[in-house]
Amino acid sequence: MKTVVTTAYRPTTATLEWAERVSADLSLLQVPRNKRSIDRMHADEKADLVVCLKERLEFYPRGKSEPFFFHPNSAAFRTKRPLEQDPLIDVSGLQSGDSFLDCTLGLASDSIVASQRVGEEGKVYGCESHPIFAYVVRQGLGQYNGVPHLDEAMKRIEVISSDAVSFLQTLDSDSIDVIYMDPMFTEEITEASNFTPLRGPADQGQLTEQWLTEAKRVARKSVVLKAHFRSEDFERFGFTRRVRPNTKFHYGVILCQTQK
Ligand SMILES: C[S@@+](CC[C@H](N)C(=O)[O-])C[C@H]1O[C@@H](n2cnc3c(N)ncnc32)[C@H](O)[C@@H]1O
Repeated sequence: MKTVVTTAYRPTTATLEWAERVSADLSLLQVPRNKRSIDRMHADEKADLVVCLKERLEFYPRGKSEPFFFHPNSAAFRTKRPLEQDPLIDVSGLQSGDSFLDCTLGLASDSIVASQRVGEEGKVYGCESHPIFAYVVRQGLGQYNGVPHLDEAMKRIEVISSDAVSFLQTLDSDSIDVIYMDPMFTEEITEASNFTPLRGPADQGQLTEQWLTEAKRVARKSVVLKAHFRSEDFERFGFTRRVRPNTKFHYGVILCQTQK
């Protein structure tokens, strides 16, 4: 799918320079906006659009009128509660100073919560196979300043623009404390509107034996899966399901220390 880089409707010197940098980083063509609407540009350029605004990057896949852009999403309120009560932290056993690999970064909400938990002594890697999502989220994590208590946690996340299995294959055995997977749900959750712009272009791949084998090889403490409550992947792949009454998604965990 072709993607081009452009600016806001009324470009400034700063947004033009930014678009130049983005087009060089992503090896994409930069095209002038010429006061065209997003729909007009989609039709003229026959391409997805990366738009450089004053304060953020937006990604408009063709056929979508809502952009994908970085914001901390649920991490903003989840980190206001005691972190040990967060279901991901609870199920994974993630502690201060641990390392955490998020195989499916998306908007990075889960990674931000994990990064706040592990603190300065820990390390969070976030793998995202869609190169534009990875670029937009890396830029957002570095620059977003709307939630001051998460500034440092967001900046510490290392974004890896890669498929998770390929990245796992580069890692030593028993080298990361917690490995997490949250593939796209196969059933749409209507109230999860934050993911609306993600849904079409995101990597729709589901957990595989190869992915899980690599995750179990690399994980020291636990491998955690998040999936729709109707998903059979928990049982199919040997996760212990944590039922969360009245929620549309569950977590499942494989505790590695008991298996190794
Ligand atoms: C449901 S979203 C994850 C949401 C994320 N947990 C959050 O807190 O925002 C899934 C994301 O993982 C990406 N993805 C799916 N399969 C992947 C894989 N094998 N490797 C890397 N990224 C993957 C998709 O492109 C999508 O952005």
